[in-house]
Amino acid sequence: MRVGVDYYPEHWPEDRWPTDARLMREAGLSVVRMAEFAWCRMEPQEGRYDFDWLERAIGILHGEGIEVVLGTPTATPPAWLHERYPELYPADPRGYRKGFGTRLQRCLGNEIMRSYSRRITEAMVARFADNPAVIGWQTDNEFEANLCYCDDCARRFREWLRRKYGTLDALNAAWGTVFWSQEYSGWSQIPLPWEARCGQSHNPSLWLDYRRFASETTVAFQHDQVEIIRRLAPGHFITHNFMGLHDSMDYVALAEDLDFVSWDNYPGGAWHADRDPAMAHDAMRGIKEKNIWVMEEQSGIPGWERMGVRPAPGQIRMWAWQAIAHGADAVLFFRWRSCLYGTEQYWHGILNHDGIPRRRYHEIAGFASEVAKLSPELDGSIVKSRVAILNSYEQNWALQIQPQIDGLGWWEQVRRFANALGRRALGGDIVPITTNLASFQAVFVPSWYILTDDDAQRLADYVKNGGTLVLNPRTGVKHADNTCRTEPLPGPLAEVAGIEVDDYSPIYPTVPLSSAAEGNEGSEGCLIRMADGREFCAKVWADYLTLKGAEAVATWEQGHFPGEPVVTRNRFGKGSCCYLGTIGEAEFYEAVVAMIVDELGLPTLEGIPLGVDVRVRRKGEERFVFFVNQTGEDQWVPLPPIVETLLGPSGTKEAALGPYDVAIYKLAPRA
Ligand code: GLA
Ligand code: ZN
Repeated sequence: MRVGVDYYPEHWPEDRWPTDARLMREAGLSVVRMAEFAWCRMEPQEGRYDFDWLERAIGILHGEGIEVVLGTPTATPPAWLHERYPELYPADPRGYRKGFGTRLQRCLGNEIMRSYSRRITEAMVARFADNPAVIGWQTDNEFEANLCYCDDCARRFREWLRRKYGTLDALNAAWGTVFWSQEYSGWSQIPLPWEARCGQSHNPSLWLDYRRFASETTVAFQHDQVEIIRRLAPGHFITHNFMGLHDSMDYVALAEDLDFVSWDNYPGGAWHADRDPAMAHDAMRGIKEKNIWVMEEQSGIPGWERMGVRPAPGQIRMWAWQAIAHGADAVLFFRWRSCLYGTEQYWHGILNHDGIPRRRYHEIAGFASEVAKLSPELDGSIVKSRVAILNSYEQNWALQIQPQIDGLGWWEQVRRFANALGRRALGGDIVPITTNLASFQAVFVPSWYILTDDDAQRLADYVKNGGTLVLNPRTGVKHADNTCRTEPLPGPLAEVAGIEVDDYSPIYPTVPLSSAAEGNEGSEGCLIRMADGREFCAKVWADYLTLKGAEAVATWEQGHFPGEPVVTRNRFGKGSCCYLGTIGEAEFYEAVVAMIVDELGLPTLEGIPLGVDVRVRRKGEERFVFFVNQTGEDQWVPLPPIVETLLGPSGTKEAALGPYDVAIYKLAPRA
């Protein structure tokens, strides 16, 4: 288990470096990531490399026992490169080129950009492959889909389409371009999609292919670098710092080339309201179903031109332990010291501008010493849940392209399941459908809107062999081309679910959204009634179901067709499928989760307070349960049978966690 920091020696006078390295070592920081924005210092002029300063900085860190992860600097190409090749700037939909003076000002599909990326990577890796302090590499920084509209991207998109479809006839048929007379008779006629171009939405099939293309462009750009690093530094690991719930690109494809996923966690400080660290950790770990690193962990006030809030005392430690609870094997804080210049002057590091160790330094040092103490126990442990929530970037894009109604957003759907599982301490693994589903006893599936025959088969097999599948509305609507399927919904899963969707309607809120807490929350919606008489508020979507072998678990109490089934359960093979024909309130998902986990007899905890995050790390037969109090109040938590308190308050049946406190217990072996 490692604790570390992101460090920019190039921002500080060299005579400060030894002090920084000593303070890091004294705080228990043992790994540093650096150089990912330092292209202009590593190649000040074309072809003239200068790595001496970096080698000196690495040497000083190494002298304090600190290891180094190097970042390739391609998120910030230098001014000389852009001056020579202005065509490297990415273009927006109006054709305006991004200019110099920020970062990410490069089109990743551009061949010249790719060749300079290969060159700097090769020079850097050649220089540091045998450096004793260097252990691994980060490619670029926070990759996104290359949603660029330059002429070169338009040309390459058309080539990509030609490779995919072979002929224009095939493309026209796949996209249904006869609609609005859009049939293409030449490849050059195909536009890049842009919502506002004609005051009308572009063809959804064109859109989805462009999103795939833009994502693949980034994956290919990274692949160039990975190939070089593997060749020149075969002993080093390769990772990338992902962005949690960011969804412009296919993170599963990006991760295929990597040894493990890292990500950047900025959970608080009124910076981004929708941050959800628990869910994001699970989604990041789920990409490869493998432990992760947090390459950037919040260490103070976030801020660029404006500032967020200072994390409360104990909150930085809490977030860092939460990362470990969710499978992080390293937590690096961003950044060492708040920068004196540039855009991120107010993105606060462990040290303030004054460079003097203060409260945050001591909080992080305390965390690092706790980690050091518990490492012998926790090293080698992993997170593996008995239940999973499926994640898919393709579904996510398709729902971005056609949201249909607010409330069907991909992460919103994942979150509803995740929250309900969390209340029973079940912490679902958030995984791609290509994972080994048989390793989970229950699988929860947000709208699998684009349902290929392969995916349908995979899910059907899972149920047939004994799995419990939970489906959401808007499943099985589309083909991979983003055109509508003709089978009754949920399409090829109708038999597994034992139902047909006879009719449906979006549900709009009946109270103004402004008074709503979240999306359609606060809507009177429509009531549904469970077989046991409990009623729940339904919202966003209403499916009216015809039973084809399934039994009704809940029926509509209100809405267009009262009395008709809305939630169903079907035995199929050795397993079962539960179909949810609506989006419910939180208690609805808790009831569904309770029904399923109790029936499966999964070991869970009841009475987890809202805001307390529970995860288990396991190592062979050993299990460690983490309780993370994300709230600023005391919380009582129910304890399973434990044999040892590793951190935090001890207790027998329950324990009291202070504000932002964390507890870790070793669990009694299962009888
Ligand atoms: C991201 C980037 C960092 C830095 C921080 C804070 O996570 O990777 O370089 O910009 O945000 O803004
Ligand atoms: Zn481009």
